[in-house]
Amino acid sequence: MKKLIILAGITALITIISCNQTKDTNTVNLETGWKFKTGDDPGFASPAFNDTSWGTIDPKTIWEDQGNKGYNGFAWYRCRVLIRSSMKNQNTASDSLQIFLGKIDDCDQVFLNGELIGENGRNIPSGSTRDDAFTKETGRWNLDRRYCLAPADPRIHWDQENTVAVRCFDQGGAGGMFGKTFAIRMTGLQDHLKFDMDSAAYIFSGDTMLSKGYSIINTTGTDQIKGEVLTEVIQCDNGVRLFSERSFIDLAPHVKINKLVAFKKAKSAPAILHVTFTEAVTNNKVDAESEVPYCLTPETSLEPRINGASVFGVRPWSPFQFKVAATGQPPLKYSATDLPEGLTINPENGIITGSLKKKAEYIVKLTVENQLGYAERDLKIVVGDVISLTPPMGWNSWNCWGLSVSDKKVRQSADAFVSTGLINHGWSYVNIDDGWEDTHDKNGNILTNYKFPNMPGLCGYVHSLGLKIGIYSSPGPKTCGGYEGSYGFEAKDAMNYASWGIDYLKYDWCSYGNIAPDPNPEQLKKPYKEMRHALRKTNRDIHYSLCQYGMGDVWTWGAEVDGNSWRTTGDIEDTWESLSAIGFSQGRCSEFSAPGRWNDPDMLVIGWVGWGPALHYTRLTPNEQYTHISLWCLLASPLLIGCDLEQLDPFTLNLITNDEVIAIDQDPLGKQAIPLRKSDDYEVWARELEDGNKALGLFNKTGKTMYVHVDMSDMKLTGKYEMRDLWKQTDLGKVRGHFEMKVMPHGARLIRLSRQN
Ligand code: GAL
Repeated sequence: MKKLIILAGITALITIISCNQTKDTNTVNLETGWKFKTGDDPGFASPAFNDTSWGTIDPKTIWEDQGNKGYNGFAWYRCRVLIRSSMKNQNTASDSLQIFLGKIDDCDQVFLNGELIGENGRNIPSGSTRDDAFTKETGRWNLDRRYCLAPADPRIHWDQENTVAVRCFDQGGAGGMFGKTFAIRMTGLQDHLKFDMDSAAYIFSGDTMLSKGYSIINTTGTDQIKGEVLTEVIQCDNGVRLFSERSFIDLAPHVKINKLVAFKKAKSAPAILHVTFTEAVTNNKVDAESEVPYCLTPETSLEPRINGASVFGVRPWSPFQFKVAATGQPPLKYSATDLPEGLTINPENGIITGSLKKKAEYIVKLTVENQLGYAERDLKIVVGDVISLTPPMGWNSWNCWGLSVSDKKVRQSADAFVSTGLINHGWSYVNIDDGWEDTHDKNGNILTNYKFPNMPGLCGYVHSLGLKIGIYSSPGPKTCGGYEGSYGFEAKDAMNYASWGIDYLKYDWCSYGNIAPDPNPEQLKKPYKEMRHALRKTNRDIHYSLCQYGMGDVWTWGAEVDGNSWRTTGDIEDTWESLSAIGFSQGRCSEFSAPGRWNDPDMLVIGWVGWGPALHYTRLTPNEQYTHISLWCLLASPLLIGCDLEQLDPFTLNLITNDEVIAIDQDPLGKQAIPLRKSDDYEVWARELEDGNKALGLFNKTGKTMYVHVDMSDMKLTGKYEMRDLWKQTDLGKVRGHFEMKVMPHGARLIRLSRQN
């Protein structure tokens, strides 16, 4: 079935095709129709209040991003909806009406038809009066708002217009409604029968066999639930059923059953696991689905290939370490011609070390050989003031281990760079985030805690593998995790880091907020300048990573304080909402990115993550992960893997070892992509490359597969171009003028357009 939608006024053509997500009916949509006003007045709750002069707002996005930058305090949202009584008859367990209001940052009181029904996520009984104590409560901002009313509750006006009014109070930072699920519906089967599709990851055996466990849970305390479960795996491109099974279940209250699906699938073919439960008595259905991982990166060739950065910056006299990243059947033999005096290459492992004394530029020819042949490539060495001439690539402990990071886990991660082959694709930094610090001793030296008994030893070990090592601190007295920061000890800390052999410092604002609670631009820069001076006094190249969540548009002055990268946003989470909100908002800082000066939209949320000792598999779908890597590469972002490297599954490893994709991130021109087309449904981003060609990302923001149309005149490209699919590493033929490509739900296509003469 094909349905064409032509979007007037824009040149995007979207075709809806198969493999789409299904949605429940019987729901009042609350995603649109909201009015908004900052300020506070008790009259705003009343259905009779005339809000025609108010502005409109999208409840899925915080108010700062909708023209209310920097606003804290009270604001109101209002919306009018018809609630039909027919909703009551269509469910098995019609015991309450639920109002879903996404999440609310920070506090809320919700009124239905002028009467208070809920506060900070709690239901409020009829007749309650309101006070302002709710504004003092903290920690509610990340809580899903779901308010429930009995069908007989007089506050609901069945078959009439109802006014929902939300009084919000923002204590600071982001404010207002955001997130997903803005709807009104009766409780029903979907609230009582739950699927857990996420706790177990897909298991690969060989190239084609996959299996996955999932469970079905009866969450009612009282009712038996009986019916048929249909489990199917359907290949997206041809609709072929790879697995199909019907079974009958009879679940007692609170009982969970586990199911296992095992099927064969071509490695690169997208597929969907779909589970439908049909209740025996009512024929009501609930369903769930999960995208099956598919691997696009082709097998690595056995012939030698040189990967990773082709330009490397170093300061005069600093210790030089560069590992030539290369793949191919071992053993590989490395050599370099025209190496400047002061540097040597180890022929067995391709690690170049030494130091260079004068500012200069050198072109070195690298060669890697094995039994099957050899590969050559130029490496440009720039001895000057700026380091990190391509974005750093590596791993950081935070998204997996959080504060439970230890020496052992860091060593194991470093070993995994080698055992999984990541090191051969240019991945090089092993970064310890928060959680290594103890106190400063009486001489002002920072001590490591019991989890890191020998920091110089750890640094030496990481270096011996050809890798680099990073560390974390805060300009404040305490880090965000409550450990000792660098406040007052900047010079000593920098000296200690350098003496241990540290190559990367993430410097995180955290408790500096107590020292400069309402910082002006100079106060924002001050602590970063201070540590910058301290780092420059050491005789070591330490990548300086500013972390202050984008305050004061850090991208406009990060280079001034000599930052090599700067976080442009708050912390990323492994959800589509977080990923897409962060990734697609990076156009505002594109022009400030340059070699050695990178915008950092935060670390990668792929594989097993958890921010603490208990890990879970990323909640991003495979397609969302293709978007993540494609977009981050277009953004010339630092690529820091945030997962447990000891548990790298074949999908995740395949995702981060595509040399043609990585080459976009590492392109020496260092120009971040800009958005060419933006709409609610899709985006097209383009990045200029050093060789004059373009990298292009096509992104589908909807839950349905679509065709995205690209008009090459958007990039001022005339004439014929060769198109290459970078994920599949295949040529797609020549193109002129415009073209369209199929893009999976929440997925991406990453292509390279090369000029044909
Ligand atoms: C946050 C930072 C995270 C992580 C954490 C450590 O402020 O954004 O990436 O470093 O602190 O406590």
